Amino acid sequence: MAKEKEIVVSGIRSTGILHLGNYFGAIRNYIRMQEEFNCYFFVADWHALTTHPDPTSLRGNVYRVLAENIASGLDPEKVTLYVQSDIPEIAELYLLLNMMAYKGELEKVPTFKDKVRQNPDNVNAGLLTYPVLMSADILIHRAVKVPVGKDQEQHLEMSRNFAQRFNNRYGELFPEPYPFNYGDDLVRIMSLDGNGKMSKSENENSTLYLNDSDDAIRNKIKKAKTDSGPQEANSAKPDYIENLFTLMKLVSAPDTVQFFDAAFNNCNIRYGDMKKQLAEDMVNFIRPIREKAEAIQQDHEYLHRIMRQGAEKSRESAAATLKEARRLMGINFY
Ligand code: TRP
Repeated sequence: MAKEKEIVVSGIRSTGILHLGNYFGAIRNYIRMQEEFNCYFFVADWHALTTHPDPTSLRGNVYRVLAENIASGLDPEKVTLYVQSDIPEIAELYLLLNMMAYKGELEKVPTFKDKVRQNPDNVNAGLLTYPVLMSADILIHRAVKVPVGKDQEQHLEMSRNFAQRFNNRYGELFPEPYPFNYGDDLVRIMSLDGNGKMSKSENENSTLYLNDSDDAIRNKIKKAKTDSGPQEANSAKPDYIENLFTLMKLVSAPDTVQFFDAAFNNCNIRYGDMKKQLAEDMVNFIRPIREKAEAIQQDHEYLHRIMRQGAEKSRESAAATLKEARRLMGINFY
C-alpha cells in the first residue's frame, strides 16, 4: 500500500491584497506542497475578527483571497480549500484547547504584545487566545507540517506545547506540528523604494499587487529606486539594485538577466532600459493572474461550489479528530 501522505495545514489571512512578496513567498510554497502532501488550506476569517472589520469588507475579502489563490495556481481539486468559519469543529477544539493554555504564556507572545502596543483600546480575549485558535486550526487535522513565515514560528511552538499537554493528560492524539518551507529557493522580495520587505501595509507605490493594472505596474517599476550606476567593474550590487535583478530572475528570460548583469559588471548598465524591460515582463507575468482572479471573484456560483466542497472534506477530517478528543476527555455520553 502506498504510504499515506503527510498532512499539511495553513491559514491564509483574509486581509490585504496579495502582492509579489506573498506570491513568491507563501503561494509558491503552497503550489509545490499540493503535489506532495495532503494539504488543508483555509481562509482564516475568524482570526480576522480580532480587529472588528466591517461585515461587507470581511465578506468581500474572503471571496477575493480565495480567487487570488486559485488564480495563482492553488488547485481546489488537489488541496482541501475551505473557509475556517465553515468548520464548527475548529471552534469546539479551540474551546477544549483553551484549557491547556495559560494566561501568562499567552500574554508573553510577541505578536500579542505588538497588538497591545498598536491598539491599547482593543485588547480583547480573541486577540489573547489567537495562538489557541491557530493551534485548533492545525491540530484539528492532526497536521505535521505547517508552511508559515518566521513571524509565526512562536505560535507553532505553542501549538506543540498545547498538543503535548493534551496528550500527556488525556492520551496520545495530536502529532507535533513543525514549520515547513522549501528553504532552498525562498525568495526575499524588497520594496521597490529599497525600504525593507515588500509588505502590504507599507508604501503602496513600492509594492506590486497581483491586482495592479498594467500601467500601475509600469509606473511603479519606473519609479523604483536606482542610482547613477557602478563606478568600478564587478562591484557588489546595492540591495535595491539586487532586488531589481531578483525580480527579473523571477519573471524575465535568463538571457535578459545575463545581458543586464554583464552590463552592470562592465559599468555600462542603463537602469532606465532595465526597468522598461522588467516592467514589460512583469506585466506579462501579473496580467493573466489578475484577469483570472477577477473572473473567479465575480463567479460566486463557482466559489460557492469550491467552498462547499472544501468544507465537506475538511469537516470529515475535523469531526474524526474532535470525536477522539471528546472521548479521551470523557465528553461522550451516548
Ligand atoms: N496566523 C497566520 C498568519 O498571520 C494565519 C493562520 C491562522 C495560520 N491559522 C493558521 C497559519 C494555521 C498556519 C496554520 O499568517
